[in-house]
Parts: sequence; structure tokens; C-alpha cells
Amino acid sequence: MGKTAYVNGQFVDMQAAQVNIEDRGYQFADGAYEVCTVANGRLLDGDPHVRRLHRSLAELKIPAPDLDIRELLLETAQRNQVDWGIVYIQVTRGVAPRNHAFPDTLTPAVVITSRPLDYQPVLAGASQGKKVITTPEIRWRRCDIKSISLLPNILAKQQAREAGAFEAWFVTDEGEVTEGSSTNAWISNAGTVVTHPASHAILNGIVRQTLIELMENAGIRVEQRPFTLEEAKWADGAFVTSTTACVTPVSHIDDTTLGDGSVDTTVQHIASLYRDYIYAAAE
Ligand SMILES: Cc1ncc(COP(=O)(O)O)c(C=O)c1O
Repeated sequence: MGKTAYVNGQFVDMQAAQVNIEDRGYQFADGAYEVCTVANGRLLDGDPHVRRLHRSLAELKIPAPDLDIRELLLETAQRNQVDWGIVYIQVTRGVAPRNHAFPDTLTPAVVITSRPLDYQPVLAGASQGKKVITTPEIRWRRCDIKSISLLPNILAKQQAREAGAFEAWFVTDEGEVTEGSSTNAWISNAGTVVTHPASHAILNGIVRQTLIELMENAGIRVEQRPFTLEEAKWADGAFVTSTTACVTPVSHIDDTTLGDGSVDTTVQHIASLYRDYIYAAAE
């Protein structure tokens, strides 16, 4: 069966889908996006994702499309027969002759796609940690906006791939870890978990927000403060979170092995909290 995309008001065969070459998303990466988990045919944390999309659009001065986004995300997953997977939405400012300044009359362009993803290995894989490398933080000062403008992120991820690593962590001139190229960054030390506070320096991940609540309910101490790379290298454990990575343990940061290289028990516990959360939502 061919894949179906929602494109500006219609569901179309992806092979035949078209966008205007003067769409400002194409010309300027002028837009915002979301990636949401589909768990057994249901949207996981659909409302927080839609709220964050609206927030990103408002910060970019893009009018929110007058659509039931939650419904359209679900329908796109259903039309693609995605039971477990992701649904992607991007909203760009619209079509106009190329000019940095934008008219305020544009109609935002909306594209939604969905694809299957086998969450089982991701959720079961908490017994082994992965490697992260570090790279200088060169991004703009509004990383809280989920913008489709991702050049530093894709270059960092590519650097990680070429180094045989799972992720790259951005490190500021002051030596602080902000987040990964497509994940939030966490460390665990003596049972306390530390992650960068939600500020303009990071994307406030939906998994991050969910997990903070789950950890607090489970009595795990969470500190939302910046941590340095040095502190991370001495930590008992570390992990990254995102919609597709869920809770992925980290065993190596650059050439440093964390602890004895096995997954810290607190990190294992946190991974199991998120696994239980997804499976409960999928029932
Ligand atoms: C830069 C960045 N940080 C964090 C995240 C994690 O966000 P979420 O948990 O909402 O998937 C992402 C996800 O794409 C990201 O791109």
C-alpha cells in the first residue's frame, strides 16, 4: 500500500504530494514541527504536543492553522495503518515570493506524515548503554522553539554517526551540557537525576516533562539545573530522552566510560517507569 500524507487540506499519495517551491519552509526553514508517538493506534501525550506546536508557532508569529490537529494526526496514522510508530507534523509560514520579511496575509502550510516504528527494542534496550560524543554549542538562543531549522542539529548528529556514537551533546563555552542534537540530556549520581532547566537553551521535551512527573511520583530526586561535561563524566550514569529514543542509557561520553560501563540502577528504574507509562497508555 502506498503511503498517504496530509498536505494542505487533503490526504494524498506521498508519491504525488507536492509543495510550492516558494513555500517559506523550503526557502528559509521558516516553520515549526512536532513528532508524536503512536502507541497501539493512540497518540501518546497528544495534547502536550499540540500545545507545544501552538507555542512554537506563536513565538514565530505564524498563525495557528484552524484545524483539529489531534484528529488529523490520528487520521494520518490510521490511513497509513500505523499502530506503533510516529506521526510528524510541520507547519510553515506559507508561500510568498522570496523575501526575508514576511507578509502577514499568508496561509500556513501543513504537512503530516506517519511511519511505523518498532518501540519494543527501544523500550527493552535499557540493559546496554550507548555512546555520546560532545560538540560545541553553536545554536541560536531560542532552542525552546521546535523550529524546522535544524542545521546545527543535523551536523552534530552526523558527527556522532561518523564517530560510531548514538548522539552528540552540545557543550557551551562555559562547559555546560545543554542537550543532545535530538534528545534531552540527563545524568544520574547517587540516586539523584540532573537535567538542564527548561529555558531558551533547550527544547523542553515532552518525554522530559512526562518523566519528571513519573520520577517525582516514584520518589526519585530530580534537579533541574545545568551540569558540566566534567560532572557528567564523573556521574554514575547518564541517559537521553526523546519521543523516538524514549529513555536510552548512555555508557560512554567521548572517551570516558561512566562508572563500570554497565547501566546505573537508577537509570534502569527510570527506563522502566517510561516503559510502563507507554504500555499503560497503549492499553
Ligand atoms: C533538540 C531536541 N531536544 C529534545 C528533544 C526531545 O523532545 P521530545 O521528548 O518532545 O521528543 C528533541 C526531539 O526531537 C530535540 O530535537
